[in-house]
Amino acid sequence: MNATNITWHENHVKRDEREKLLSQKGLTIWLTGLPSSGKSTTAFTFEHELIKQGHLAYVLDGDNVRHGLNNNLGFSAEDREENIRRIGEVALLFADAGIITITSFISPYRSDRDRARKIHDDKGLHFIEIFVDTPIEICEDRDPKGLYKKARAGELKGFTGIDDPYEPPVNPDYVLKTAEKSPELLSLELIEYLINNGLLKD
Ligand code: ADX
Repeated sequence: MNATNITWHENHVKRDEREKLLSQKGLTIWLTGLPSSGKSTTAFTFEHELIKQGHLAYVLDGDNVRHGLNNNLGFSAEDREENIRRIGEVALLFADAGIITITSFISPYRSDRDRARKIHDDKGLHFIEIFVDTPIEICEDRDPKGLYKKARAGELKGFTGIDDPYEPPVNPDYVLKTAEKSPELLSLELIEYLINNGLLKD
């Protein structure tokens, strides 16, 4: 922390008042997985389904956030760490606001994801780590942005899954198989998971 002479100011409105207003609990659903594993498609479909069912949800998406808040970050290990640190903090604020917050970032390093979980734990907010478990061959076959192709051709260095590491979760809260099920089906599965765990009212 670089700033000095700063004081935490407590909100007058408590989280449970906001949650009562929204009839839901704020939480963070953290999707992690290889490029083209289906994180964003799943996240946006899930968000849509939640909204249709009357819940306030919002997706923080890697490519989108890198156009704005994180447009000064690249893909070095340091920059990826900072990317995830900021997103962890933004997700925390959204979740504290009572929003069902869905993050869609490769978030390749375990330690960064663990840090995001810890700051949620410290504030008593649920953090659900979801592994979007799609075999790399399928991700590479999909390759909608042509980035695997570029990485294989040596035109893109440090691409996750090719010449940059991806550390899968050891003990994820939930695993999604996008190679086997449609985004719509996976979204309904996630809603069922939340309901079964008392995190979403029917
Ligand atoms: S993370 O590693 O820092 O979590 P993030 O999810 O924000 O990554 O961004 C990943 C997106 O950036 C990918 O969907 C892809 O479109 C793009 N991208 C560009 N260069 C790279 C790279 N070297 N490795 C991975 N993704 C990259």
